[in-house]
Amino acid sequence: CGIVGYIGHREAYPIVIKGLQRLEYRGYDSAGIALYDGTDIKLSKTKGKVSDLKERLENEISTHGTLGIGHTRWATHGVPNDVNSHPHYSNSGDLVIIHNGIIENYDALKKELIKRGYTFKSDTDTEVLVNLIEDVKKNENIKLGKAVQIALNQVIGAYAIAVFDKNKPNEIVVAKLGSPLAIGIGEDEFFIASDASPFIEFTKNAVYLEDEQMAIIRRGKDIKVRKIKGDSLVDPYVQELQLNLEQIEKGGYDHFMLKEIYEQPEAILDTFRGRLLSNEAVIKLAGVEDNMKKFLAAERIIVVACGTSWHAGLVSEYIFEDLARIPVEVEYASEFRYRNPVITEKDIVIAISQSGETADTLAAIKLAKSKGAFVFGVCNVVGSSIARETDAGAYTHAGPEIGVASTKAFTTQITVLTLIALRLARAKGAISSSEFRHHLIELETIPSKVKEALESDGYVQTIADIYKDAKNFLYLGRGYNFPVALEGALKLKEISYIHAEGYPAAEMKHGPIALIDEHMPVVVIATKKGHYEKVVSNIQEIKSRKGKIIGIVTKGDKSVKELADHVIEVPETIESLTPLLTTIPLQLLSYHIAVMLDKNVDQPRNLAKSVTVE
Ligand code: G6P
Repeated sequence: CGIVGYIGHREAYPIVIKGLQRLEYRGYDSAGIALYDGTDIKLSKTKGKVSDLKERLENEISTHGTLGIGHTRWATHGVPNDVNSHPHYSNSGDLVIIHNGIIENYDALKKELIKRGYTFKSDTDTEVLVNLIEDVKKNENIKLGKAVQIALNQVIGAYAIAVFDKNKPNEIVVAKLGSPLAIGIGEDEFFIASDASPFIEFTKNAVYLEDEQMAIIRRGKDIKVRKIKGDSLVDPYVQELQLNLEQIEKGGYDHFMLKEIYEQPEAILDTFRGRLLSNEAVIKLAGVEDNMKKFLAAERIIVVACGTSWHAGLVSEYIFEDLARIPVEVEYASEFRYRNPVITEKDIVIAISQSGETADTLAAIKLAKSKGAFVFGVCNVVGSSIARETDAGAYTHAGPEIGVASTKAFTTQITVLTLIALRLARAKGAISSSEFRHHLIELETIPSKVKEALESDGYVQTIADIYKDAKNFLYLGRGYNFPVALEGALKLKEISYIHAEGYPAAEMKHGPIALIDEHMPVVVIATKKGHYEKVVSNIQEIKSRKGKIIGIVTKGDKSVKELADHVIEVPETIESLTPLLTTIPLQLLSYHIAVMLDKNVDQPRNLAKSVTVE
């Protein structure tokens, strides 16, 4: 989500609405603004884009006022609709809040507030937070800043918030943990935003709040920054912004794709946040728990998806069969729907889709439902058509993916599917409790290992420069990493327009080996676990035909290093989790080649982010 705020001497509305337009890349399923007009709060919000809000708001309320906050939403709790849009009022109507992030323990807090007589209009975690603040404020008879601080100490999750009280219209309180928050410092005026783009033309001076910090922003005066835990004041560090508008929206990266590649450690963390509790050896996924009987009775899982999501499905085939011992079939949705497939009530269909709008996947779901199968969705976009059409599901929580070539959606899909498989494996007794715990602990290390894998970026660039003019590429992998080879090849095709094929390494000798000569770069995933020796033999076969070998290997590997022209190292992990790491250098390789070839990385020719035609 994106948040914006203004307090000063100018009209707030033009600044806030323009700011929201600039933040729309952060989410665009609903939007809203609250203004203080000198006597009261005026609020308008709607499902849809910021342009829809503008139209509605200007007809609905007066746009007058020098204090305002606005929000553009990427739904996490509750489908995108008018009521779930931000800002949210507290029960008394005195406080109004905008929030970017997820409050994990909102359910427990909500139950407590309901006991105290609070009522809720929306399904959002945010409305819980604003009422918690109100409750604390009233009970303890304290100022807003202190109440926000006490409330946030009860909250588990991630947030960037801005809240004000209509009885104290000279101050805005903001706080941050996990989600970004910048404060622009002008002459007797302050700006708040998820990044500096909404205020770049007004001021170049900004304070970026750190995690677990909050600030009380006082009109015409100053900002007081303090820690959320404890009582210490922090001396705010005022930065001079050097970036231009476009750079800011992309977080300083040249392309959304690169930004999204780098967001993966956080995105994966967000995916298992609140769901994976390794201390208690528990996985909690409501959509699975609520339907556990159906899952346990299933004789087969059929995965339907397209493109990169189909590749995530292929990875899940290995995970489900290996860990949970459930037979799996992975289908291109477009083939499945027209094939008169055998589907029974004993099948569970898992539909995977980043956008949740892919026409073929949607049609496959409808077909499966009509045959009586239970359909489970794995989507990124909350409230999307597929999320609504499926019987149950689990969101990936990767945040908006803008680059057409899918990156963080893929790794977060694998993460969710791994959680499901592990939960079922344990419920079925297919793995021991110690094995289960071992997987959870290992999964928790993945975000930092992805970060480490990203450190290969510089070297990947060198490799990209050497091979950027190749006409063909081959990508090979076995087992869990065979689908990663397919995905690596797809990434290269999509954005650099170089022909690339992914193949199971052992199948190479039944065809693709005929293509290998000194002009053919072959990317081989050869991590330590999983058929390592066999892949090394395959590498030898390539070498003796003079192919150029780029090995993706486990840190410290020696054998492949001796044979390959280049090796890119990834950290060690258990076999089932290697795809989350081996994917990273392949994404970077395709990215850098496309940039070097001067291609439109974020919007490659002929492709679309969401394919709503069959
Ligand atoms: C398009 C996109 C791909 C995506 C595929 C499936 O082809 O360009 O990146 O993998 O659709 O989309 P979905 O939203 O269903 O995952």
